[in-house]
Amino acid sequence: MKLENKQELERLVHLVETGLDERLQVTPEVERQKRVIAAMQYSLDAGGKRIRPVLVLEFCRLCGGRVQQAMAAACAIEMIHTFSLIHDDLPAMDNDDFRRGKPSCHKAFDEATAILAGDALSVQAFRVIAEDPVQDDAVKVHLMQILAEATSAAGMIGGQVMDMEYETRDDVTQADLEAMCAAKTGALIRGACRLGCVAAGAPESVVALADQYGAKLGLAFQIVDDILDVTSTTDVLGKPVGSDAEEGKTTFVTLLGLERAREEAARLTQEAEELLQQFVGHEFLLDLTDSLLNREK
Ligand code: IPE
Ligand code: IPE
Ligand code: MG
Ligand code: MG
Ligand code: MG
Repeated sequence: MKLENKQELERLVHLVETGLDERLQVTPEVERQKRVIAAMQYSLDAGGKRIRPVLVLEFCRLCGGRVQQAMAAACAIEMIHTFSLIHDDLPAMDNDDFRRGKPSCHKAFDEATAILAGDALSVQAFRVIAEDPVQDDAVKVHLMQILAEATSAAGMIGGQVMDMEYETRDDVTQADLEAMCAAKTGALIRGACRLGCVAAGAPESVVALADQYGAKLGLAFQIVDDILDVTSTTDVLGKPVGSDAEEGKTTFVTLLGLERAREEAARLTQEAEELLQQFVGHEFLLDLTDSLLNREK
């Protein structure tokens, strides 16, 4: 990334992390339940690239909105994403003991606490939007509807169901894999793009354009994730490599091979970037999109 864009990304990530801290605190109301709050904070504070909330803030800016109009939605989607990661690492799912460079939530705490921390983050996300002092009620309902759809059985959760089912099948096709990834990863990334536009009050035609960009980026993002599971190291990635093979997953790498998987990710990234041309002031997001194709973690 260009230096100025790298600095802009750092600025946005810092804003998001401050926003998250403000929206998840041990208050007297939850003093007796502070173990689960600690587990939520542990996973949320562990870092991560914060791509989804940055997409919310950036699409809001591209649609002429202010940061504060998008901050609740940005924090909410990072809470949903973190919930998905906590549950994804559980023994019942991918059984991974390392996440974001630290022991997974169920290792640092215990399985029951990790399940409950994920549950609690998933509802805290909606509370954060409901209690946002900036947006009016009609916009909040729209934001919550988008977030719910992205998270639902038709979105991320449904994608995780397909992911689990496909572990026991040996006839998974590329179309199956694309449908699974569009749901498990694409749905939240598309949702992030839509949230930003809606927070800025953009018309539906613009929301639809951002959604198309998110669909391309989401698929490219998961293909690169599959590639890194094979080519990276646990140190760099902050999560175990070789996890997909261990769980018997069909991925873009097992189906297409490394080279064709890379080509597919590059093609989708190119298509995503073409869609961005329709947004005035897209230079930062273009650079970010490009950097996600070549990311190391
Ligand atoms: C990991 O997402 C799970 C996928 C959908 C591939 P990220 O790669 O965005 O994870 P963090 O937030 O940076 O840890
Ligand atoms: C997970 O995909 C997508 C989620 C909804 C969490 P992966 O299982 O490939 O994500 P990582 O590699 O564990 O981050
Ligand atoms: Mg998984
Ligand atoms: Mg996993
Ligand atoms: Mg993965």
